[in-house]
Amino acid sequence: MADLLGGDEMKFCGRAHRRVRGLLGRAILVAAACLFVAQNAWAAETTQKVVNKAPNGLAQTPPMGWNSWNKFACNVDEKTVRAAADAMVKSGMKDAGYEYVVVDDCWQGPRDANGFITANPVKFSSGIKALADYVHSRGLKFGIYSDAGRETCDGFSGSQGHEYQDAMTYARWGVDYLKYDWCETGSRNAEEAYAVMADALRETGRPIVFSMCEWGGSKPWLWARNVGNLWRTTGDIRDSFDKWDPKNQWVHPLLEILDDNEPLWSFAGPGHWNDPDMLEVGNGGMTTAEYRTHFSLWAIMAAPLMAGNDISTMDESARSILTNKDVIAVDQDRLGVQGHRVSKDGDKEIWMKPLAGGGRAVLLFNRGATPVNITVDNGHLGDASTMRARVRDLWTHKEVGNWKGSYSATVEPHGVVMLRLNP
Ligand code: GLA
Repeated sequence: MADLLGGDEMKFCGRAHRRVRGLLGRAILVAAACLFVAQNAWAAETTQKVVNKAPNGLAQTPPMGWNSWNKFACNVDEKTVRAAADAMVKSGMKDAGYEYVVVDDCWQGPRDANGFITANPVKFSSGIKALADYVHSRGLKFGIYSDAGRETCDGFSGSQGHEYQDAMTYARWGVDYLKYDWCETGSRNAEEAYAVMADALRETGRPIVFSMCEWGGSKPWLWARNVGNLWRTTGDIRDSFDKWDPKNQWVHPLLEILDDNEPLWSFAGPGHWNDPDMLEVGNGGMTTAEYRTHFSLWAIMAAPLMAGNDISTMDESARSILTNKDVIAVDQDRLGVQGHRVSKDGDKEIWMKPLAGGGRAVLLFNRGATPVNITVDNGHLGDASTMRARVRDLWTHKEVGNWKGSYSATVEPHGVVMLRLNP
């Protein structure tokens, strides 16, 4: 009992016990009350272990990088990853803030006789350590993928039952980022499963960003703030603005992902971000205007910016979207507030993100298929409504004058006008 009760509860029970000595009925009542207090104290303590774990201090702004999955799926090998690292430097992405080069599913070979994971000997013949060294030699960081179940989503060995061993292996290889998926987890509890790997990563002593890919089923935004640095809020993204794939309902068009992620804005902040999945910019399924919209919406939502195209062969249109430093600055703003929709009138939407120093990012978004005029005014800006500010257009990179209480623009179909109000 003494172990279970906190000091104050013990004192209360002791005092109560002395007062009612001899009065059996009241003593039974007090005993029951003490038991109740004890149970609650124990419950609070066990909950606290998960909820009050200290943050790992990483990802103070949303992580930026490249991930192999959206373009290469299982056709990934070490050559592809090296080419991505080279391209990240050469294309100007590194200068624009991209940092992590992440190999997703399908890198694994079998576990060895002692249960240690190995790399696929054909596709990653130089080994993961050599690949991580290569990425580091380009001034970048290296990420890898595993799964909280027995198998990954593509049927390779998952980390269940090998968490500490795998974390140790990743640290030895020089891994800086782990994406941790949720396939083949059976009846496993997500809070427990992610906490085990979070602990294992911390035990290595190496700073490893923990990217939880649980798709939102257990509402990780409610419990994972101090467990992971980012958590997926939806199923997988599809390279389409608004069309579903009739044969695969698991992949969601951009608008669907957007509407699922937006209401969660208050749960994001430095070190713990909502992740509406990786970027499709440059993969060919959307128009240039739609890709600009995709990138702008991810930035105003302070989403992780993980390019998902072949950055070693991308055209200038994709490159210039991915390296738009004005838009990236909105995503990476150190205040770390996820922007959200402040107005909706049919297809006309206005989104707003407060920025450090009192500024505002504003997105005029046209969901529809014909051009529309959208007007943002003081009423949409909250606290900043009386602000004196200069207005910058983040896609034309031009100053467009002083804020005069409202701003109107014609917005192309499926397009955006993105502004920054600088006080
Ligand atoms: C799941 C994830 C994807 C990707 C694949 C790999 O679908 O959500 O992002 O990692 O698994 O198999």
